[in-house]
Amino acid sequence: MKVTLKIQRYNPEQDRKPHFETYVVEQDPTDRVLDALNTVKWQHDGTLTYRRSCAHGVCGSDAMQINGRNRLACKVLIQDVGTNITVEPVLGFRVIKDLVVDMEPFFASYRLIKPFLITSEPAPTGRERHQSQEDRDLIDDTSKCILCAACTTACPITWTNEEFVGPAAIVQAHRFIYDSRDQGKDDRLNILNDRSGVWRCRTIFNCTDACPRGIKITKAIEQVKRTILFEGP
Ligand code: SF4
Ligand code: FES
Repeated sequence: MKVTLKIQRYNPEQDRKPHFETYVVEQDPTDRVLDALNTVKWQHDGTLTYRRSCAHGVCGSDAMQINGRNRLACKVLIQDVGTNITVEPVLGFRVIKDLVVDMEPFFASYRLIKPFLITSEPAPTGRERHQSQEDRDLIDDTSKCILCAACTTACPITWTNEEFVGPAAIVQAHRFIYDSRDQGKDDRLNILNDRSGVWRCRTIFNCTDACPRGIKITKAIEQVKRTILFEGP
């Protein structure tokens, strides 16, 4: 069937501002939006620029606005969004070219919360650091994050406040704060108790709606807030 793609284009070497270009491509209903973008790039205009890698919802590189909603292009079937599809870059970060945005502020926030195991316990020999099923369950949801930035770039607080660490960084902090093997809890709670941390969240739920992994982000943020309030960093 014919699919009309209206894609935001921007080449900083030629354009003063972004504009839309329209392409009509032949796709199957069960193709993904990423397949349609690939058709445009491979058959119509090789200059179209977007990130993608795994094409199976694992690497998190192809978050973009599809019909106004943050989605992974490789996880959206054309039959679910119709034959007139508008594709734009995610909001809140500088557009480098077409659908590619500068992710450095996103990863700076990620690094800020120390996304690695902090422990003085020596590593056990010949095996991994074990934890009980009950302890694993505490971080089961937030461990699913693939760092796609769909949540952070759907959050109106991050659009207007560059200092806010954003929901993805809090999700990643949550994954370590409640990890029974980690000893960096107070350190991370201190970071998130800062003016750029969890208190900037206004419980809007855009992040939860946007997450392609179905992570209960707002709930995780509220859990971190309560831990700071009732246990203290
Ligand atoms: Fe993407 Fe969800 Fe992780 Fe946010 S929490 S970066 S939306 S996977
Ligand atoms: Fe890897 Fe879509 S290309 S998540």
